[in-house]
Amino acid sequence: MRSHYCGQVNESHIDRTVEVAGWVHRRRDHGGVIFIDLRAREGLLQVVFHPDSPEIFALAERVRGEYVLQVKGHVRQRPEGTINSKMPTGQVELLAEELTILNTSETPPFHHDEHANEELRLRYRYLDLRKADVQARLLMRHQVTRALRRYLDDHGFIDIETPMLTRATPEGARDYLVPSRTHPGKFFALPQSPQLFKQLLMMSGMDRYYQIVRCFRDEDLRADRQPEFTQLDIETSFMDEEGIMGLMEVMIRELFKEILGVDLVEPFPRMSHAEAVQRFGSDRPDLRVPLELVEVADLMDGVEFKVFAGPAADPNGRVAVLRVPGGNTLSRKAIDDYTAFVGRYGARGLAYIKVNEKARGRDGLQSPILKFLPDDTISALLERTGAEDGDLLFFGADKARVVNDALGALREKLGHELGLAEEGWRPLWVVDFPMFERDSEDTHWNALHHPFTAPANNDPEALKAEPGDAMSRAYDMVLNGSEIGGGSLRIHDRDMQAVVFELLGIGEEEAQEKFGFLLEALKYGCPPHGGIAFGLDRLVMLLSGADSIREVIAFPKTQSAHCPLTNAPGDADDQQLRELGIRIRRPQSEDKA
Ligand code: AMO
Ligand code: AMP
Repeated sequence: MRSHYCGQVNESHIDRTVEVAGWVHRRRDHGGVIFIDLRAREGLLQVVFHPDSPEIFALAERVRGEYVLQVKGHVRQRPEGTINSKMPTGQVELLAEELTILNTSETPPFHHDEHANEELRLRYRYLDLRKADVQARLLMRHQVTRALRRYLDDHGFIDIETPMLTRATPEGARDYLVPSRTHPGKFFALPQSPQLFKQLLMMSGMDRYYQIVRCFRDEDLRADRQPEFTQLDIETSFMDEEGIMGLMEVMIRELFKEILGVDLVEPFPRMSHAEAVQRFGSDRPDLRVPLELVEVADLMDGVEFKVFAGPAADPNGRVAVLRVPGGNTLSRKAIDDYTAFVGRYGARGLAYIKVNEKARGRDGLQSPILKFLPDDTISALLERTGAEDGDLLFFGADKARVVNDALGALREKLGHELGLAEEGWRPLWVVDFPMFERDSEDTHWNALHHPFTAPANNDPEALKAEPGDAMSRAYDMVLNGSEIGGGSLRIHDRDMQAVVFELLGIGEEEAQEKFGFLLEALKYGCPPHGGIAFGLDRLVMLLSGADSIREVIAFPKTQSAHCPLTNAPGDADDQQLRELGIRIRRPQSEDKA
């Protein structure tokens, strides 16, 4: 139906006859001549209809936006003064000789140039996807997966599929469950990751595996989280963390070179988990932001201000300062907004000191909390934080977890909002993670990665004795404040795996019921192995400069895990429910009413 894509017609085609097809992007009537910008995936072409061909001119007059046309004509140089250097096809135009209206279109609910709200964009996603910038991101995603596949193929990895209807794979989120009709009352879980299957593939001797695979996690959604998302999932046998990290680093460096022409630092810097949390309040620090958290608990021990003295004396507490250069111009309203912002992370306040004139000591400062702090504490504070005239100091005092989350997030927000962040790409590896962390109620241990991560010390007894001190063999790749990948060496010893389950509060019976197949497989010659998974959506989001992973997914869900296009999730009919042996209980609020 066409000889060329609209966007590919150029000066080399002048005086030739071409046939194109596409959508009406824009129609203009100019003194008896009709101009139509015809659009297809590769771009726009200007088509001209003259009244000297009355038949097709009459047809062209009927054409509206988003009609689908097929046009045959000859290519000519645009007249002097009408050349559009912004368009790749802007030197030429197509003089129409034949026109077929292949389809009509109702007036779309939003126009290309319009900034429609996301709900509407997702409801009419097929129209939204006609936009050049949205298409460009999907094209980039294709280029990324192609490059990644090529790299892994060149390095001996083979692509193997794993089941979607499976058992729970604990990665820290809720499962999506699928009821079984043939086994009434039983459920499949959709995989949170292919973690256990890729380990079984190593036990099968497949040696190097990869898969670009959908993962499902029912968790609170954010800009960089979707209920279903895509991992580049990788596992290899007989390789230690240096080998794996090296191979993966080169893969990402080559990807950035190919897609953006950017050279990432070599090698990626490494930072321990403890250092990242201490300095940046986060295990995925954005190193483009130069601000750091400064520990001041020792200065606050015993001060009159209970808000600080309490956490300073608490072994699980933290009192930290974030120095904001030039921050003393922040208005009362701005500080209130930042206080509300840290409140989302559990902070109960955001004390501050404005440094107007350091040389004047206490009199050169401005803050509601000065009266609670003795002179020597104040001068030690200024000294330690390196405060300069014009700065502002923000304080966080609470359980360490709250302070880190709150000031860590504030650090990035301030860095970007105040224009303190540098440009470019700052990748790093975060390493030396603890094996376990206490849950928020401090009642039991959780795995910091997943329960199959190998501890640094191979002695099960030592692990049992001091689980809180145990370090793991995990590594995360972080880029500009986003965790783009995470992995580890795995436990390949049955006894060690059993001990880790036990420490996580998974009793023997439960371990057998949920992971019996893994424990059994570990008895039959399991090779040392390890791997990593990259968040493909996050990677493409960063590469394409999008601010949400929804922008790089063809058919994403909203923040409330709903699809406005298909209106999923939807109801099941009575027959389906009966076959599944499921009865829907009304929400409790209705019960009470
Ligand atoms: P992890 O849980 O760290 O590790 O996931 C790997 C990477 O997947 C991305 N990611 C997400 N992206 C979008 N939406 C989500 N809801 C979401 N959750 C995670 C992140 C993350 O770094 N099996 C292990 C990997 C391994 O140990 O090999 C795993 O799944 O970019
Ligand atoms: P208050 O004594 O509650 O009026 O608090 C005095 C100042 O300390 C206010 O600026 C609060 O925002 C701040 N503040 C209160 N609790 C905390 C906290 N846990 N961490 C940091 N600042 C706090």
